Amino acid sequence: MELIYRNKKPREDILAQTEKFRMPVSADKSMLFYGENFAGLSALLCGGYAGKIDLVYIDPPFNTRQSFSVEEGRTSTVSRARAGKVVFQDKFTLEEYLEFLRERIVPIRELLSERGSFYLHTDTKTGHYIKIVLDEIFGSDCFCNDITRVKSNPKNFKRAAYGNEKDVVLFYAKCAGKNIWNNVSLPLTEEERLARFPKRDERGYYTTIPLHAPGETANGVTGKAWRGILPPAGRHWRTKPEEFDRLDAEGRIEWSDRGNPRIKKYLNEHKGKKIQDIWTFKDPQYPAYPTQKNADMLDLLVKQSSAPDSIVLDCFSGSGTTLAAAERNGRRWIGMDKSEDAIRLTRAALAAADFVEYDLGE
Ligand SMILES: C[S@@+](CC[C@H](N)C(=O)[O-])C[C@H]1O[C@@H](n2cnc3c(N)ncnc32)[C@H](O)[C@@H]1O
Repeated sequence: MELIYRNKKPREDILAQTEKFRMPVSADKSMLFYGENFAGLSALLCGGYAGKIDLVYIDPPFNTRQSFSVEEGRTSTVSRARAGKVVFQDKFTLEEYLEFLRERIVPIRELLSERGSFYLHTDTKTGHYIKIVLDEIFGSDCFCNDITRVKSNPKNFKRAAYGNEKDVVLFYAKCAGKNIWNNVSLPLTEEERLARFPKRDERGYYTTIPLHAPGETANGVTGKAWRGILPPAGRHWRTKPEEFDRLDAEGRIEWSDRGNPRIKKYLNEHKGKKIQDIWTFKDPQYPAYPTQKNADMLDLLVKQSSAPDSIVLDCFSGSGTTLAAAERNGRRWIGMDKSEDAIRLTRAALAAADFVEYDLGE
């Protein structure tokens, strides 16, 4: 399936354009590029970075048809540029916008390694069109998640529609199933802990599970009596009698008043809960930069989808939220932004980091 719109360039033509922006780039340092990111992505592609980047997160302008400005040191969103110093504009037709993104995502895919992941942050107005463009570029088999991100407190605008408190993060793997996945999990909340590990002994909070599991064993030891008790009809013992003896000796079997044994499972052995696809990561209330994203969300992406030797790329890096998360987690990073204010804030946020800067020119 293909999304057809005016002025859509063939993929080969996009990649051929990258040759124009060949320039020397560092082979081993974090880098910050000031300027148009197509030029920056091209410089990486021509500079030996094809297949070298493990994690890309981008938070491009959402095509809000607004200018984003800074007024007297505070950030704001305004629809007229005159109201403050404009730091970036976000005005395209939908077709122009999709092609603008596509022209950057085509080279990004080339930069991604085989274990690479791509996350694109967008809103609900354009997210569905972008999903089709991404399916086309990556292949729909490489689609991993459409993450709902709760971004703000409920809003109470007067328009005749439901309030909007979410945006969208689309997640793709460069190669289906090969992406770095560190199984980052979440600790249980106190409420969940109470429901799942309600009991307590000297070792800590625990719950109990039966010693038996569904299915009968025809001849094996797991179908035989243990301490004179047979598994209930249609079930078998979970493990061998010696293992139950060991658990019992360690005090890890709880015997009921009626003599029924159950295995104790402790909270401190619980691996945490799998992260689902609805996230609440509210953005800073007083951001240093318009549309600045939640730092914890970027920490999660870096921890989940990169390794210590990975390179993390954000080519719409704004105030440097992704780059700072990469730096905090000891990853090498590459940032790009064409706004002078964004670059200034990034320099300040990463003042202690070792990186090289490039000016991509007009
Ligand atoms: C939504 S903001 C990113 C905010 C960022 N995630 C943060 O947490 O601060 C989008 C950024 O993309 C930059 N940008 C837009 N078009 C660009 C382009 N063609 N090349 C480089 N940067 C661009 C804008 O200057 C802006 O800083």
